[in-house]
Amino acid sequence: MEELRREAAAYVSQMTPEEKAALCVGADFWHVRGVERLGLRGIMTADGPHGLRKQVAHHDSARPSDSVPATCFPTASAVACTFDPELAQEMGRAMAEECRAERVSVLLGPGVNMKRSPLGGRNFEYFSEDPYLAGKIGAAMIRGMQSVGVGASLKHFALNSQESRRMTVDSAADERALRELYLRAFEIAVKEGRPWTVMMAYNRLNGTYCCENQALYGILRGEWGFDGAAVSDWGASRDLAAGVAAGLDLEMPGVKNGHAADLLRALREGRLAEANLDRAAENVVLLLLRAREGEKIPYTCDREAHHRLAEKIAESAAVLLKNDSLLPGGAAQNAAVIGALAARGRYQGDGSSRIHPWRLEQPLDALRAKIPRLTYAPGYRLDDPAADRALIEEAVAAVRGKDIVYLFAGLPEGWESEGYDRRSLDLPAGQEALIEAVCRANPNTAVVLQAGSPLALPWADLPRAILMLYLGGESGGSAAAKLLLGEVSPSGRLAETFPETLADTPAARDYPGGHVALHRESLFIGYRFYDAARRTPRYPFGHGLSYTTFSYGAPVLEGDEGVGWRLSCRVKNTGAFAGAEVVQLYAAPLESNCFRPVQELIGFQKIYLKSGCEKEVSFTVKEGDLRIYDPEQGRFLVENGAYELRIGASSRDIRLRCTLRVTAGTRCRDRRRELPHYYEVDGFFPGEEFARLLGRPLPEYAPPRKGTYDESAALEDLCAVRPGRILAAVLRRCLSWKYRKRPEAGARMWEQFCTTPLWQAPLGGVPRRFAEAFLALCNGCWGAALRALLGKY
Ligand code: BGC
Repeated sequence: MEELRREAAAYVSQMTPEEKAALCVGADFWHVRGVERLGLRGIMTADGPHGLRKQVAHHDSARPSDSVPATCFPTASAVACTFDPELAQEMGRAMAEECRAERVSVLLGPGVNMKRSPLGGRNFEYFSEDPYLAGKIGAAMIRGMQSVGVGASLKHFALNSQESRRMTVDSAADERALRELYLRAFEIAVKEGRPWTVMMAYNRLNGTYCCENQALYGILRGEWGFDGAAVSDWGASRDLAAGVAAGLDLEMPGVKNGHAADLLRALREGRLAEANLDRAAENVVLLLLRAREGEKIPYTCDREAHHRLAEKIAESAAVLLKNDSLLPGGAAQNAAVIGALAARGRYQGDGSSRIHPWRLEQPLDALRAKIPRLTYAPGYRLDDPAADRALIEEAVAAVRGKDIVYLFAGLPEGWESEGYDRRSLDLPAGQEALIEAVCRANPNTAVVLQAGSPLALPWADLPRAILMLYLGGESGGSAAAKLLLGEVSPSGRLAETFPETLADTPAARDYPGGHVALHRESLFIGYRFYDAARRTPRYPFGHGLSYTTFSYGAPVLEGDEGVGWRLSCRVKNTGAFAGAEVVQLYAAPLESNCFRPVQELIGFQKIYLKSGCEKEVSFTVKEGDLRIYDPEQGRFLVENGAYELRIGASSRDIRLRCTLRVTAGTRCRDRRRELPHYYEVDGFFPGEEFARLLGRPLPEYAPPRKGTYDESAALEDLCAVRPGRILAAVLRRCLSWKYRKRPEAGARMWEQFCTTPLWQAPLGGVPRRFAEAFLALCNGCWGAALRALLGKY
């Protein structure tokens, strides 16, 4: 690595400022530029993150048919439920092998953002509400990818917690929430995965766009030792000169927006130091060299094996939420399969991650191949959320007298996607009505769910079993059949809490918010919230049943605070099935001056045991696992006092406890009086307390006015003036026409249009000078508008 870095520096020393500036902007939508004169070849990037989406043409399109066929693995929310870093590593490697076969050098993923709310439109692309789990799975995936010479792009750094106004929203979060929660997964993934690139998010963080956020780069490089290239998310680089000055290396995609010329101008005007341009160019060259070296690593690309690996991951990810002695079903039973999603399953999410699957297996076909006596009825329409009485009646008639019913339900396409957040946790009303009617007609019903994120399940008492498949990828259909028939015992554990209702969720009052996303709940997202607020979720973090049972022997704790501790116990499979258990380790501080989560995951191990077999499971616990961030001292520290180590089968099924004591640490200042709602969590975090926690007044959004509009203004801002209103009216008409058959999709598209900042116009093919002229018009400056129109970039 040191050698490559030296080589990169040597290349940069031979470059002109123009060549360096050119390197900092992509060559086109997917390619990073090389320097022909010096014999440096450019490289190709592609999405990610659960398979390769290599565009056939070099433009952007999320239509699967526009990208080459590739193995569609289960999406991140499923992968995390495996609690199995080894599988994640294998998946990373397999995806990278397909990249190698397609000459793609960087795969855009994984995404390790925290799930602040289950409504997040991109939650299916993210791993967990817990940073330790997300970080460990993410790091493993990166290691797998890079082991065959394909770089990862860890994304989206940072606090990309929502899709609403995702291009400009300001995520406001306190230092502890940042360090202990939102940045933690990135920290683990950077330190343990060493990604070639990190992708800077669209949003602002505490007032500054991530691409221009010096504090973020300081942490990334200065504290975590990141040695790769910082790349903008596609279209996130508003002001490249400001970005490069702060720490950005590469703007993607490369469009004609004049940003390379801006860099040179900033250099001439002294707004950008040459050292910063050199750093950026060197990091981009290093990326090219890493790719060059990567291509020398031998690899094979066995798509059949990848398809089977995707199936194995889907099997390992599915979470058996409930089982009242119904599952596994038997192949000899007289069975009914209900639900359009059985015949046309949902196996991946929407947006930039959409893959053209190499081969696709449907649950219904897989079940038909195994069960000779099987009746099928669709029960609902995928394109209409309302109940279809005729289809429900047909389904009810089909399930009567059957030994078992497999009812497939879930979120239809378009219900969760990049670009917008969900508005509710509910299933389509028609599916809920179907579940009720079918369960009443035949209580021996197992509901099988397909969705990328948690759902509200008010009907959960009705069926005898519920299996959550998540989005299981191209071979999820066969995985479902194997799980339902007991060829494999379910072993997925929830990587996120399933709440009872939306109102129960931690950010319920604030999500997604307006232009500023106040992360008021601080550390209390996911199980940290439900534990602290003493709320009972529908299914807790870490939950998941099996067809077998496991017993835990007594815990043994050895070691001390000087050397660290070793905690072990024996786990035995006491049931009749072979299966895997996920042994989870939580740390619970018993005495602290700070507000802290009741318990936090600090370790996990997935072990596979045949019936009657047992194994020792051991964890090493270091002082660092107990650390908290003290914003007043600006560092992590370990508080003195007692900590309970809890070994559990879920966050709410703790089987073993033991206590250790730290004496060589320190204590933070007690802020109970200033921040009572953080010490006693009841679900409400008053603004004045959050302001105290932030250490500044709550950021407020001041809408820009005529005369002050800049390139961050979006159509919704510009509608305050006549030119904006005229443009909006024209665009609206065009969209209504284009989406005349899908008005809901049209409405969502309109929302995205309205909230996209003007600086992104060149991405949509609108020349920058048009956008600037329009901006000048909106500001009432006709002369400037004319000058912009005539100007050249
Ligand atoms: C997404 C990224 C993706 C990129 C390229 C962006 O809109 O946020 O996750 O990698 O597009 O498709």
